[in-house]
Amino acid sequence: MKSLNQVDIEIFNAIENEKIRQNEGLELIASENFTSNAVLEAQSSVMTNKYAEGYPGKRYYGGCKFVDVAESLAIERAKRLFKADHANVQPHSGTQANMAVYFACLELGDTVLGMDLSCGGHLSHGSPVSFSGKLYDFHFYGVNKDTNRIDLNEVRQKAIELKPKLIVTGASSYPREIDFKGFKEIADEVGALLMADIAHIAGLIACGFHNSPVPYCDFVTSTTHKTLRGPRGGLILCKEEYKKAIDKAVFPFVQGGPMMHTIAAKAVCFKEAMGIDFINYQKQIVNNCKVLSEELMSLGYELVTGGTDNHLFLIDLRKNDMTGKEAQELLENAGITTNRNGIPYDPKPPNITSGLRLGVPAVTSRGMKEREMKQIADMIYRVLYNKNDITCEKVKAEVRELCKKFPLNL
Ligand SMILES: Cc1ncc(COP(=O)(O)O)c(C=O)c1O
Repeated sequence: MKSLNQVDIEIFNAIENEKIRQNEGLELIASENFTSNAVLEAQSSVMTNKYAEGYPGKRYYGGCKFVDVAESLAIERAKRLFKADHANVQPHSGTQANMAVYFACLELGDTVLGMDLSCGGHLSHGSPVSFSGKLYDFHFYGVNKDTNRIDLNEVRQKAIELKPKLIVTGASSYPREIDFKGFKEIADEVGALLMADIAHIAGLIACGFHNSPVPYCDFVTSTTHKTLRGPRGGLILCKEEYKKAIDKAVFPFVQGGPMMHTIAAKAVCFKEAMGIDFINYQKQIVNNCKVLSEELMSLGYELVTGGTDNHLFLIDLRKNDMTGKEAQELLENAGITTNRNGIPYDPKPPNITSGLRLGVPAVTSRGMKEREMKQIADMIYRVLYNKNDITCEKVKAEVRELCKKFPLNL
């Protein structure tokens, strides 16, 4: 068989260039990570060739003996890792995992209470530009205007007022620990179901560095590619009583055939996540995030909520007379990848923003520790303070040198 560079030189070159970009740059996008070679190997395996509609032992296709092994392992490992009654490992993405939960427990038009996108929630938690906001009657809780933290009193008031069928907790850009038990008490008080979307913090939860929503929630959804460091994809955990409804909602309602190569890679990811190295990795994420955020604060930057409990934080750039867009672009010119992000009650539109979101899962996967976080803070400071090409070029060279010491071996 011909190799990729013989068949398609354009795609081959795009992949090679992406390898160089990943190797030579500092990846500070909070939702990205570098999977292990074992995950990559499973993900690019021959399991991509197999159709396997259905579930292990109940497929609509022949020849599923070995993909059944992979999916059964993925299910059992996910259940063990998160101490859940049931796991569905087929969702192609976090959004589809959320979609399947909504279809499993709601009727069209039902009332749902979720976190406001502009305060840290996710598009699939009821944004009008997402299917979720179009199909369901979503209402939102935000964060307290003084503390920028979730205010359970506000959540409770809204829940009592609205009597939602489902409360959605979990976020994309919230730097603090979420009180899932507090949400459960509110859900019980108003007779609502409770879902937690742990896409960002799944790795921290798996290793006990963040409280787990599993004992409190009817449904827990996640992606597998953020702090969990697996392949791109989704995951649903649920209580035993919802097992059938969830499985039916994923297939055949929301999706067709499962991506068996990805499911095999999820199984590898869950196995890795049960090891001591992974626990140390998650611990290092929390330490690195603390150091990077504290260094930036000591250099004069203001952080939303004044710090972080997890793998990410948000810089409020209003006092620096800079937008999130400008900061993102300057840093990108210096080989540091970040994303602009709205701060709560942001006066600027989402394509400009007053905030910048930074996360450390990817640089921590490279082996960087506290010392490197201090170096990175200094680089960020110089780029954003000087705002010129010369500084960007100089820092870019420093970034390349730093990255050379922590090769990705891609
Ligand atoms: C909290 C949360 N849920 C869901 C998703 C969606 O995941 P995907 O991009 O795989 O659809 C994200 C992605 O950033 C997220 O942050």
